[in-house]
Amino acid sequence: MKHEVVEKNIGLMMILILVALSFGTLVELVPLLFAKETHEPIAGLKPLPALELEGRDIYIREGCNVCHSQMIRPLRAETERYGHYSVAGELVYNHPFLWGSKRTGPDLARVGKRYSDDWHRAHLYNPRDVVPESNMPAFPWLFEDEINSERTNLKMIALRRVGVPYTDEDISGAAAAVAGKKEIDALVAYLQQLGTLLQSRR
Ligand code: HEC
Repeated sequence: MKHEVVEKNIGLMMILILVALSFGTLVELVPLLFAKETHEPIAGLKPLPALELEGRDIYIREGCNVCHSQMIRPLRAETERYGHYSVAGELVYNHPFLWGSKRTGPDLARVGKRYSDDWHRAHLYNPRDVVPESNMPAFPWLFEDEINSERTNLKMIALRRVGVPYTDEDISGAAAAVAGKKEIDALVAYLQQLGTLLQSRR
């Protein structure tokens, strides 16, 4: 009889459905908020130095994350190809995170140190020069444009507000660390550190 009341009153039914769903969400979410490994940095994790940070912003600006994920799933096919699966603790300073979900090109979560700097430069200048069948776009302008060093410290200050532990020295030295560097230098520096803290392939 009581159930009939719910069945005949769609407003009440909707409210009760919402309560049931939010309870399910809470059961999944709340333990994660308290699990240490989901928000504590892994040993040795440091915020990106100034040049790498600028490289990350070029990576976002050029849309690299639209074709490349940075998230290795704990599946054998993935770990054999890319290396150790991604763990939350190595990504806690990523704002925004660049996990991605579309892989037109390979995952880059552990591409750091897989190739030489020269390989990356040649590849980014014209991918076909090193991978003949590649359909990745070329990014030749990165070799011409210099980094604008005026904003690097502000980026660090903003990231510090959301919990990335930049020190005052990091911030005051930021402009000098990127002054006169080309965009390609920053992007390659960024790529070369990706995933290097946990590398078990090769
Ligand atoms: C339109 C899609 C697309 C975009 C955008 C793109 N890539 Fe790629 N990328 C690919 C494809 C496809 C490959 C595989 C062929 C090759 O190696 O060139 C690749 C390969 C790579 C590799 C070699 C990975 C490996 O493990 O062999 C790196 C590094 C890379 N891309 C970096 C970048 C960076 C940095 C950017 C942004 C400046 C970028 N890509 C933008 C499609 C893309």
